Amino acid sequence: METPQNAWDDRYRAGDTPWEKGEASPGLIDFLREGSIPNKGRVLIPGCGTGHDVRAWAEAGWEAVGLDIAPSAVKLAQERTPSGTRATYRLGDFLADEPFAKFDCIFEHTCFCAIDPSQRDAYVTATRKWLKPGGWYVAVNYLIPDTDGPPFGTTREELVKRFSPYFTLIRDFVPRSYPNRTGLERLFVWQLA
Ligand SMILES: C[S@@+](CC[C@H](N)C(=O)[O-])C[C@H]1O[C@@H](n2cnc3c(N)ncnc32)[C@H](O)[C@@H]1O
Repeated sequence: METPQNAWDDRYRAGDTPWEKGEASPGLIDFLREGSIPNKGRVLIPGCGTGHDVRAWAEAGWEAVGLDIAPSAVKLAQERTPSGTRATYRLGDFLADEPFAKFDCIFEHTCFCAIDPSQRDAYVTATRKWLKPGGWYVAVNYLIPDTDGPPFGTTREELVKRFSPYFTLIRDFVPRSYPNRTGLERLFVWQLA
């Protein structure tokens, strides 16, 4: 039976990974340079792929944990992470698993748009479950109109409707992006109430 895990793993094994840009999200790099989240604790990156964003958080002084449902992604992420880096990886399902720890921050980048839209309620529940009270949810969301994903698009309106019952929106803006996503991403900084 084809499961989401098999489907994602097949894509890594086939090298069919158009989201793989060989570097961390440009908007994340700028955000980390700002250092606007003062406590550099533990950050979870769900749907971390080959780990570029995980390594960027680790380089910025955080203890960074990448989580991915695809065993091949986790293997590649581990292989690409130099020893001594404060970046580790776990195989798991962000939506279904019980948290193995609670985090100070979650960073989202192309996981929300990767899951089936019918799972978006479960995604919001998961962000609340994996965070400590007062934890940060930093998201680079992909605001495209596509309904035949992945990637599945979303809008600022949908995100505000889904997250604002539980999180305070600190700020949101158009970040620097990979060239083929310029103007299509929005960076949100939320704090769990
Ligand atoms: C479009 S890729 C993006 C990977 C990475 N964030 C990047 O930008 O390079 C989506 C990733 O989410 C993972 N994924 C999908 N559903 C997941 C889930 N429920 N829990 C954890 N990871 C998941 C996939 O295996 C895949 O690595």
